[in-house]
Amino acid sequence: MIHPKESPCTAGTGRKFATRVVRTVSGTDARTGASSVPIYQASTFHHASLENPPEYDYTRSGNPTRQALEDTIAQLEGGARGFAFSSGMAAISTAFMLLSNGDHVICSEDVYGGTYRLLTTILGRMGIETTFVDATDLDRLEAARRPNTRAVFLETPSNPTLKITDISAVAEWARKHGLLTMLDNTFMTPCLQRPIELGIDIVVHSATKFLGGHSDVLAGLAVVSNERLGHKLKHLQNGLGSVLGVQDSWLLMRGMKTLLARMECAERSARQLAEWLTRQRSVSRVYYPGLPEHPGRAIHERQSQGYGAIVSFDVGSGERARKVLEHVTLPLVAVSLGAVESILSYPAMMSHAAMPREIRLQRGIGDGLLRYSVGLEALEDILGDLEQALQAAR
Ligand SMILES: Cc1ncc(COP(=O)(O)O)c(C=O)c1O
Repeated sequence: MIHPKESPCTAGTGRKFATRVVRTVSGTDARTGASSVPIYQASTFHHASLENPPEYDYTRSGNPTRQALEDTIAQLEGGARGFAFSSGMAAISTAFMLLSNGDHVICSEDVYGGTYRLLTTILGRMGIETTFVDATDLDRLEAARRPNTRAVFLETPSNPTLKITDISAVAEWARKHGLLTMLDNTFMTPCLQRPIELGIDIVVHSATKFLGGHSDVLAGLAVVSNERLGHKLKHLQNGLGSVLGVQDSWLLMRGMKTLLARMECAERSARQLAEWLTRQRSVSRVYYPGLPEHPGRAIHERQSQGYGAIVSFDVGSGERARKVLEHVTLPLVAVSLGAVESILSYPAMMSHAAMPREIRLQRGIGDGLLRYSVGLEALEDILGDLEQALQAAR
């Protein structure tokens, strides 16, 4: 990890995080000693006696394979209980179902486009209103608070401009006002940031990204800080039925075993890519929390164990951004991030296409902005490829 506050990272209980990420994930099968949890490909479970029902009775309500994943993410995040969903958006929308008609939410302004769409076009229609604010400024959060505010939703680093919010400060402020706090930890993963330890109530993930790590599973996870919230979220997960299938639960656990090694390798390259980009004349701005000039760097270092593998940069115009996308040969040009292969995204037309252009521009997501999710390829190849693409776009 980049700054050695807690390296290799630990989550405060017993073994080092590096050990737990390998040995907690899926564990071994208690009955046979098999090296991974079996895939219980069953939708229902026999009741040998009606008076004494089995531990699992129907897979929507619970399944041993999914349970192993849910226990694992709860452990890694340091929470009370974990839940696995069919996508990151399923995890996020289920968590928002804790709210009711008439409630108000305060949300980080440059949140993932799908979360923006959920809040504005779906929850808005159901009478849940949202105010988007620059969550890096506590005064703005306080100014947005209303008598009916019930929850705060954060992304830090935010997507795609990598702004940093002070998690403990917001959690403390929210607790004082009785607000539920939710945080999307997709970019950091529990390897680099554990928001529950900083006072957050619910952590959500698009596990499709770094946790899965191989661009082959769509999944979402949520972890709650206490049993009371766990009980409520379990009720919603079962009631809404947006659970993760058992094959995908198993694949996700398989991917998670190498999470720390992948994060360390990708972050090493991301840091160098960010520094290299600051020296390119055709790049007007680089966004990466590890850069000395990043305004949130000190806060990020206090609350995280690394800077992550996402680097955003502005090439000045939509036309140049398109040329770069046309000329790169190494990364996938795609929606998504956090995989073994590098992925170059164009937020204006991909992750943030759901955001109206004027709002997108207000939030600093310009037409020339590109987001590089650094994979495990050789750094020299990543830089060489991007250099020729930037030259072609001049
Ligand atoms: C930060 C963040 N949160 C949530 C999501 C939604 O996750 P999914 O695509 O798995 O539904 C994404 C997807 O790109 C994301 O980047």
